[in-house]
Amino acid sequence: MIEDIYYLNNGYPMPKVGLGVYKISETEMETAVMHALEVGYRAFDTAYFYNNEQALGQVLSKSDVSRDDLFITSKLWNDYQGYDQTIEYFNKTLNNLDTDYLDLFLIHWPCEEDGLFIESYKAMEQLYKEGKVRAIGVCNFKQHHLEQLMDETEIVPAVNQIEFHPYFNQYKLQKFCDKHDIAVTAWMPLMRNQGLLDDPLITDLAKRYDKTPAQIVLRWHLAHNRIVIPKSKTPERIEENYNIFDFNLELTDIAEIDSLDRGARQGKDPDEVRIGTLK
Ligand SMILES: NC(=O)c1ccc[n+]([C@@H]2O[C@H](COP(=O)([O-])OP(=O)(O)OC[C@H]3O[C@@H](n4cnc5c(N)ncnc54)[C@H](OP(=O)(O)O)[C@@H]3O)[C@@H](O)[C@H]2O)c1
Repeated sequence: MIEDIYYLNNGYPMPKVGLGVYKISETEMETAVMHALEVGYRAFDTAYFYNNEQALGQVLSKSDVSRDDLFITSKLWNDYQGYDQTIEYFNKTLNNLDTDYLDLFLIHWPCEEDGLFIESYKAMEQLYKEGKVRAIGVCNFKQHHLEQLMDETEIVPAVNQIEFHPYFNQYKLQKFCDKHDIAVTAWMPLMRNQGLLDDPLITDLAKRYDKTPAQIVLRWHLAHNRIVIPKSKTPERIEENYNIFDFNLELTDIAEIDSLDRGARQGKDPDEVRIGTLK
């Protein structure tokens, strides 16, 4: 399917729907990932911080899908920012995942006050040039972080992975990313099923389109050209979240979902995160 691929700013193809594995435990990993592969997922989003790179790597190595067909994303944890540590922990991540390259490597949080994200990113540029990672990018960067990064480094990040859902619509930041050809990936795209999927507008649209509330929300993200990485450990939901390519939302319905924004950030404000503040 062509429509399920996003071409990053260096031309590298990234599936528009991936499985987020934050909080998927070692015991849950096999069922979740095997089911995901069966229904068509090829992209998996993990992080050193999630403490499950090894579990994910083991399942992927066991599967009969070839490495070339997979898209594996991982992230540099805050505590390991700095040039040398970035290289060291990238290699640990590769080892954990039992692979010799990553498709995408991201800085997890800017931790601006600690002043290390530029040199960390320079180490990632080096890894990219050596062919150990196919694309590099960031998470949780606001416009001012991106501006500094683009001023002081060479490679425009391929991706900015940020909290994004209808109740927290970062459309201004997305506009900036779009202008610079930085793909926006929505983390917490379903707002962790903490109320959003029961919103009357979303449930009404679900009835009207004969889809589930999660499918309506994920389709809304795709309509705005975002990549999504919904997390689920539940086989039925994993399948449901992937099957969103057989319908389109009408423009008026997209606009109605846009109007649900209430600035309701669920995660941390990136300006408040420093090395050591998140455990
Ligand atoms: N870069 C960052 O700083 C950052 C931060 C947070 C997350 N992330 C990434 O983004 C991924 C997704 O974000 P998230 O896990 O925070 O939130 P999410 O994907 O919005 O929500 C996950 C929650 O929603 C439930 N769910 C999934 N599909 C559903 C469906 N179809 N219907 C009803 N409920 C459903 C899941 O339950 P079950 O699992 O019980 O089915 C789980 O409790 C993470 O796994 C991680 O990879 C990145």
